[in-house]
Amino acid sequence: MYIEVKDACKRYKQEGREFVALDNVSLDIDKGEFICLLGPSGCGKSTLLNALAGFEKVNSGSVKIDGKEVTAPSINNITIFQNYGLLPWRNVLHNVELGLAAKNVPRSQWEEIAKKYLGLVGLSGYEKRYPRQLSGGQQQRVSIARGLAVDPDIIFMDEPFGALDAITRMKLQEDILRISREEKKTIVFVTHDIEEAVYLADRIVVMMADPGRIKSVVKVPLGAHRDRTAEDFLYVRDKIFELFNLKSESYIEYYI
Ligand SMILES: Nc1ncnc2c1ncn2[C@@H]1O[C@H](COP(=O)(O)OP(=O)(O)OP(=O)(O)O)[C@@H](O)[C@H]1O
Ligand SMILES: [Mg+2]
Repeated sequence: MYIEVKDACKRYKQEGREFVALDNVSLDIDKGEFICLLGPSGCGKSTLLNALAGFEKVNSGSVKIDGKEVTAPSINNITIFQNYGLLPWRNVLHNVELGLAAKNVPRSQWEEIAKKYLGLVGLSGYEKRYPRQLSGGQQQRVSIARGLAVDPDIIFMDEPFGALDAITRMKLQEDILRISREEKKTIVFVTHDIEEAVYLADRIVVMMADPGRIKSVVKVPLGAHRDRTAEDFLYVRDKIFELFNLKSESYIEYYI
C-alpha cells in the first residue's frame, strides 16, 4: 500500500483534560487515488492530513508513505492550505518558481516550468502580477501551480477552496480534477462539503468527532466525468448525507 496509517492516535492536552483528536485511525491509500477526508469541524481532518504530510507526529500507531515512516515534511510532497501562502513581494512567476531550487532544478529551466504550470491553471499572462493584484481564486491557482511545478508525488490539500465563492470554487474543483487525472497525482483533500467530496473523490473518508475517528470509507461509484445535476450524482450525495445521520459508535461498512 502506498500510504498506510495504522492505529494512529493523537492526543492534545486542553485545560488539564486530554483531548483525543485521532482515535485509532487506520487507512490505506493507493498511488493515484483521489481521497477526500470529510467531516464536521473538529473531527480531526487537519490533524490526520498534517500527520500524513509530516507536520505533526502521532502519539502512537504509525504513518507510512512508500514503506517509510513519516517523521517530517518531504520535498516529494506538497501541501496547499486555505490561505494560499504566497509571498507578497514576489510576482506570480517568482512565486511559482519558489520550490524549484529546493528540488535542484537548474535555474535555466525555472521560467519554462513555471509558465507551463501557470498555463495549466489558466493563468498564462499573469506572470508579472503580484499576489495583491489577484483575486482569491487566482491566488489559489498560483499556489496550485507552485505546488505542481515541483512535480510532487502526493498533493495534500486542506480546505483549499473554503474561502472562495461558489462559482470560483466549482471552476477550481473542475481544474483540480482534470489536473489530477492528467498528471496522475495522489491527492488527499480535506473538506466539510459533501458535494465537493462527491465531485472529486475516488473514495470518501467520512470522519466524526470527539474522539476524532473514521466512521466509514466509501467508494464513490461515479465515473471520471461527473455532473452535479445528474441523477446518479444526486443519489450518491444523498447517500453520503444519510451516512452522516446514521448513529453508530463504531466503523460502518457502507456501500453505494
Ligand atoms: N495544537 C492543538 N492543541 C490542542 N488541541 C488541538 C490542537 N490542534 C487541534 N486540536 C483539537 O483537535 C481536534 C481536531 O482538530 P482538527 O484541526 O484536526 O479538526 P478539523 O476536522 O480539521 O476541523 P475544521 O473543519 O474546523 O478545520 C479539535 O477539537 C481541536 O480543538
Ligand atoms: Mg481543519
